[in-house]
Amino acid sequence: MNFEHDERPANPTSNRPLTSILDAELGRRRALKGGALGAAGFMAAGSFASKAAAADGHTAIVGDFTAIPTSTADVVIVPDGYVTQAIAPWGDPIVPSGPAFAQDASNTAAEQEQQLGQGHDGIKFFPIAGSSTRGLLAMNHEYTVGGQIHTDGQENWSDEKTRKEQAAHGVSVVEVEMDASGQWAVVESDYARRIHVNTPCAISGPAAGHRLLQTEADPDGTNPIGTLNNCGNGYTPWDTYLTTEENFNGYFWEETEGAAEGISEEQAALNARYGVGGQGFGYQWATTDDRFRADLTPNEPNRFGWMVEIDPFAADSAPVKHTALGRFKHEGAAFATAANGAAVIYMGDDQRFDYLYKFVGAKPWQSEAAAGNSPLAEGTLYVARFDEGGVGEWLPLVHGENGLDEDAGFADHGEVMIKARMAADILGATPMDRPEWTAVHPRTGEGYVTCTNNTRREEPNVANPRVENAFGHIIKWTEAGGDPANTDFTWDFFLIAGAGDGSDGSTVDAEDMLGSPDGLWVDDNERMWIQTDGSQPDGSNNQMLLADPNTGEIKRFLVGPVDCEVTGVTSTPDGTTVFINIQHPGDSGGADNPTETSTWPDGAGAGRPRPATVAIRRRDGGVVGASFGVDEESPTELPMTGSALTAPLAAAGAVAMAAGAGLVRLRNRMQHNDTDPGHERTSDDM
Ligand code: FEO
Ligand code: CA
Ligand code: CA
Repeated sequence: MNFEHDERPANPTSNRPLTSILDAELGRRRALKGGALGAAGFMAAGSFASKAAAADGHTAIVGDFTAIPTSTADVVIVPDGYVTQAIAPWGDPIVPSGPAFAQDASNTAAEQEQQLGQGHDGIKFFPIAGSSTRGLLAMNHEYTVGGQIHTDGQENWSDEKTRKEQAAHGVSVVEVEMDASGQWAVVESDYARRIHVNTPCAISGPAAGHRLLQTEADPDGTNPIGTLNNCGNGYTPWDTYLTTEENFNGYFWEETEGAAEGISEEQAALNARYGVGGQGFGYQWATTDDRFRADLTPNEPNRFGWMVEIDPFAADSAPVKHTALGRFKHEGAAFATAANGAAVIYMGDDQRFDYLYKFVGAKPWQSEAAAGNSPLAEGTLYVARFDEGGVGEWLPLVHGENGLDEDAGFADHGEVMIKARMAADILGATPMDRPEWTAVHPRTGEGYVTCTNNTRREEPNVANPRVENAFGHIIKWTEAGGDPANTDFTWDFFLIAGAGDGSDGSTVDAEDMLGSPDGLWVDDNERMWIQTDGSQPDGSNNQMLLADPNTGEIKRFLVGPVDCEVTGVTSTPDGTTVFINIQHPGDSGGADNPTETSTWPDGAGAGRPRPATVAIRRRDGGVVGASFGVDEESPTELPMTGSALTAPLAAAGAVAMAAGAGLVRLRNRMQHNDTDPGHERTSDDM
């Protein structure tokens, strides 16, 4: 979501390099590119180089489809030669035999627990036995639209309403199958499940059981309940789903601001840095569920803001909150493998002036996964500092190092993870323009992060060069030596978003205009998918563009319906179906007229618009995004290898690695075969 209704916790530190640094950076770029760049075009350097490379005849990562124009229509638009199908909308049962959706939103909380949630966001297709026509879709439900989830909106509040909204958050796993005509459908499945705000979870890592995670209901601090505001996502080569807890703060009421009775000074400081306070974003859960009263259960907010791992193939497994990956407003979880085989996860903290992080596992993921341990349970968390000259450093958040000690308010390492934002403040991380999704190029290992926008930036820094950054940018980096475990990196801008008409420093062409990049993925064919959530330069609907990360070429591929954001993207292994999510279509229609701005996807007769998944296919059955008439082979296995490390691994441990990964996949195949079976979005600063 593009909630900027999180007005509370601006980063209070002064980790803001001076304008002089920016000037130096621009000077370096001009020198590097050897050209006299126009005043507004300084950032276009990378883009110029890219277009030149494209003209050199680089293979067409972005296919020869005709790019579509922007749109304000209440439909999903894709290029000629493509078809779309909306599936798995909010409220449909997770298996066909479940409770049907009531168009007047009269389904009960108990029914909602057996139906897809609202706020479709990150999504991942997990093939069953490698199939491209049958698999699981794991998807996030970020938040609920208060005017549409209940028949009478937010009036007449009750515990039933609290529980229905809680049931509509979280994650769904559904099994889907495609028929011979290319139509997808949700089918009966033993894998189907809902994970929501009242689902028992497990917790791992240095903060498990920590005093700051203990509550009256869970004195051991080891049994957190539920996951919340699940926004971006990721996936691992051991076939698990990662879901990120983003704006968890918005659900808690503190009622009595600050260090009130029941809230220690320590917790008040934590709440201030994480934005817990007042009556949150206006959710009314706290009126019937004391768990969301931050003054009564002061440690409960500390149990959210984590990276959560789910095994989609084990319907009775508990989601695991991995505290080694730090606590912040998680978004993005792109995976890479370090040269020594450790898991690496790149993560944004989506808040104005917050940071980009990465986690590096303690041991090779292959052996850990083969032993049945999560490779994410142990490791080191780093935060990024972007320096002038196109270099940067990952700064470790380790207790006892670099001032992260008791005197600074960190009694132990678990506390460093719980207070990760405060630890990163001390280390001098670079305050970013709302880092959202991350991506890793499957061949080069290059990393990417979308910085969606930040209209409150008054002072630029080297990696966030525009004041009042309304349209955002995408940064790319390369780890030293091609090893994602290294602490040095080089970086550049992939693009500066905007109108492309020279008015706003954007590096894109006018025909590729975009604003507020958010969802991001580089698929196995090296195609980059860029999704938007926020205002577009020409006021049109949110969209998805296809880019060539190697050349910078961009083409608009999809435009969503009215009021929506386009988010979440995944494909079948053969690339012939791409799934995306449409979130909060028509959310400006209130309880008295839910279809005021949109009837998507149900059309005429719809009781209300609904978020849904969209399956995108080519009419000729070819690879989505590839050139027509070209028989493109899709990779059959996710490399997940990051960059040049393919070479060292090939030399040293590739055989072992492949064997380990093979074991995990084998296990999964066997499993599969065995079982065969509202809230108002306030000022979003657009
Ligand atoms: Fe939920 Fe940062 O978007
Ligand atoms: Ca997002
Ligand atoms: Ca967003």
